[in-house]
Amino acid sequence: TMVPVVLCGGSGTRLWPRSRTARPKPFIPLVDDTPLFCKTLERCSDPDLFTTPVVVTNEAQLDLVEQQSCGTEVRIIVEPTARNTGPAIALAAFSLPADAVMLVCPSDHHIEDTQAFIAAARKAAELAAQGWLVTFGIAATHPETGFGYLRQGKPIGDLGYQVERFIEKPDVGTARELLATGQYSWNGGIFAFRAGTFVDELVSHRPEMAIAVEEAIRSGQTDGQRFFPDANSFADVQGESVDHAVMENTRAAAMVPATMGWSDIGNWHALRAVRTADGDGNVQRGKVELVDCRNVMVDTDGPSVSVIGLDDVIVVVDGNDILVTTALGAQKVGHLRGVER
Ligand code: GDD
Ligand code: MG
Repeated sequence: TMVPVVLCGGSGTRLWPRSRTARPKPFIPLVDDTPLFCKTLERCSDPDLFTTPVVVTNEAQLDLVEQQSCGTEVRIIVEPTARNTGPAIALAAFSLPADAVMLVCPSDHHIEDTQAFIAAARKAAELAAQGWLVTFGIAATHPETGFGYLRQGKPIGDLGYQVERFIEKPDVGTARELLATGQYSWNGGIFAFRAGTFVDELVSHRPEMAIAVEEAIRSGQTDGQRFFPDANSFADVQGESVDHAVMENTRAAAMVPATMGWSDIGNWHALRAVRTADGDGNVQRGKVELVDCRNVMVDTDGPSVSVIGLDDVIVVVDGNDILVTTALGAQKVGHLRGVER
């Protein structure tokens, strides 16, 4: 069996104004009525395959995690401070038995095909048991700079492939080159490894992180369901993503190709792509009237919105905040001053 390790810690400002600091991306209905966090737990709920999930989150999102675990029993590790995904995963790894196979899942991704996800997870679990650090490889379609890139190496039986190179968030020129070789997949951000394998890799590549996180677990406190790592020890930890800290450095990276309708819903344009559109490519939520429009998405939580004669426009109304943008502009929403509100 695998231990789902669900990460909740991002701010998701690129989906402002619907996603906000007090109401982050995993906890709001985005694709349909069920928030992504709940769907993540549901995907990993088959008791023949998965144990009780471990959710690693921060103080600010603790209430949301507890309210929205949709009836699933979870164990929660409460980070004293946000230190990115390397330390977050390390907290889980140090609190599990060395031979436990962890399936690390972001809480803010959309996966259309659960069967395909489960099939890939089964293969990943087998590779993880053999000592690999397994990534889920997604077919790359454009030179996205927000993802990691995996160079496919030799096959490992019929389970997956070795990863010859892992390049996290290349600049756009590099991303274009990698794409053009046809040898690279995107890193889906889902990982599988034995807890002990991860700890060993962390000790070799980020020894200080390993020492501080281990100490935070050793000196932590629990109230049964929730575990609170020691804040002083954890404060010493340098923040770094798992991709930079471990995946780019390890020699034991492997990949399971996964065709599962994956999207990290990184912005409103990506969200439009996973919502169901009508014949003109339009997507509507709330009180909306569209006339002579194509590829227009309107999502309003109150006021009625009418649009006439536009192509590729995204309109989002949330309370007193209105966002109007295009597919291209949607990438810059996180930079708005308004996202602080
Ligand atoms: N608990 C906790 N603490 N969770 C965190 C923290 C933290 O400090 N920081 C981020 N997370 C959670 C986020 O909520 C998200 O669910 C997941 O960890 C991944 O973090 P992101 O910040 O969204 O990473 P990214 O999207 O920039 O990059 C990663 O995902 C890409 C695919 O979406 C990388 O793994 C890339 O290589 C990958 O391509
Ligand atoms: Mg992400």
